[in-house]
Amino acid sequence: MQLFQLLALICFACVFKQANCQETKLPSLISVQVIVRHGDREPDTDFQNPAGELTNKGKKQMHDFGIFLRGKYGKFLNYVTSSKSVSILSSDKGRTIESGLLIGRGLSEDKFKKSELDKGNMYVPFPVRTIPAEIDDVIQTSRICPRFEKLVDDSFVIYVTDFVERNRRFFIKFAQATGHWIILNNTAYPHRIDPFVFYQEQAIYNATIGLPLDDMAQETVVNPDLVFKPGFEALKIDSLEKQRLYMGPLFRQLTNTFLAEDKKKLNIYSAHDRVMYTFMLTLGVWQDPKETPPYGAALSVELYETFSGETFLEWWYKNDTGIYLLEIPGCDKPCFFSQFISQFDQIMSGDNEIECQL
Ligand SMILES: *[C@@H]1O[C@H](CO)[C@@H](O)[C@H](O)[C@H]1NC(C)=O
Ligand SMILES: *[C@@H]1O[C@H](CO)[C@@H](O)[C@H](O)[C@H]1NC(C)=O
Ligand SMILES: *[C@@H]1O[C@H](CO)[C@@H](O)[C@H](O)[C@H]1NC(C)=O
Repeated sequence: MQLFQLLALICFACVFKQANCQETKLPSLISVQVIVRHGDREPDTDFQNPAGELTNKGKKQMHDFGIFLRGKYGKFLNYVTSSKSVSILSSDKGRTIESGLLIGRGLSEDKFKKSELDKGNMYVPFPVRTIPAEIDDVIQTSRICPRFEKLVDDSFVIYVTDFVERNRRFFIKFAQATGHWIILNNTAYPHRIDPFVFYQEQAIYNATIGLPLDDMAQETVVNPDLVFKPGFEALKIDSLEKQRLYMGPLFRQLTNTFLAEDKKKLNIYSAHDRVMYTFMLTLGVWQDPKETPPYGAALSVELYETFSGETFLEWWYKNDTGIYLLEIPGCDKPCFFSQFISQFDQIMSGDNEIECQL
């Protein structure tokens, strides 16, 4: 072999080796967990009739989100979207289960071609598992925790009284129009505010579908002083004790899922805005005090492993305007998994069986 050829070969080998080294030095994605709020829905009629089913827009939103996930993680999943590598867990509500089914459909759409159907290969719907409402302290947070209920009720009384007082002029009008005079009675139970909450939900819904609003309905949509929900939901995590009781199970769920030996690559939780919102507030990444996550918003956490075996987390949030990389205050860049666990240890280390007791 000529010297020149030999040199060229050595050089090629070293370039090749370097490229290879570079590649192995890149952290690799190990597992992803995504919390998504169900798609656009109709308003609930009242507490007794929580219909709130997905609208067509909401169905499309969820199907599109499945396609989005396939675009983002298809390669990572080797384009295999079976329940071996993907799980979809939903709260026990029609709108979230349907959202989960539609996400699964979007995620695995490629496999479903008419030609396949003609060959006798059926589309396999993605299994969506649910947690019964009575024991769900993770996705719907509907499990009763007496100690937590007591703490929230105490703050709720103060919040509602203040809310009504600040908007007294509006509530006199509201009571005249609807007959719900009890709302103005500060010594009555705090759930007296519920008729207003449902009314407001309907007004917002009517506005989004272009129905005309009367003056009072219009005011509940546009007056910033009448924004009720974000402040109300925030009461659930405004102390460490409440964070332990309300958010502890979700923190443990996310952590244990990443720690599991046989973890799945993609774990989707079909959930509600209050969970995402209170979780993001607790993490310190929620931006707008006057909003909660919109329909179809998603919060994702990705687990990466470096070449030296350390694991770190990357968070992103998706809403109507874009996809945002989040930084957890207090967790460095990269946010090592071990650091995350110790940072939130006081929330995670609780035991709801014991602490929920009065
Ligand atoms: C206000 O509510 C309390 C408690 O339900 C009730 O005892 C009281 O009569 C109410 N006051 C008025 C003016 O309706
Ligand atoms: C919303 O629209 C429905 C149907 O038109 C109407 O019955 C209802 O009163 C409206 N609610 C509000 C708060 O505007
Ligand atoms: C979407 O989320 C980003 C990041 O949290 C926020 O800055 C932005 O205001 C949100 N967009 C809307 C329309 O709320």
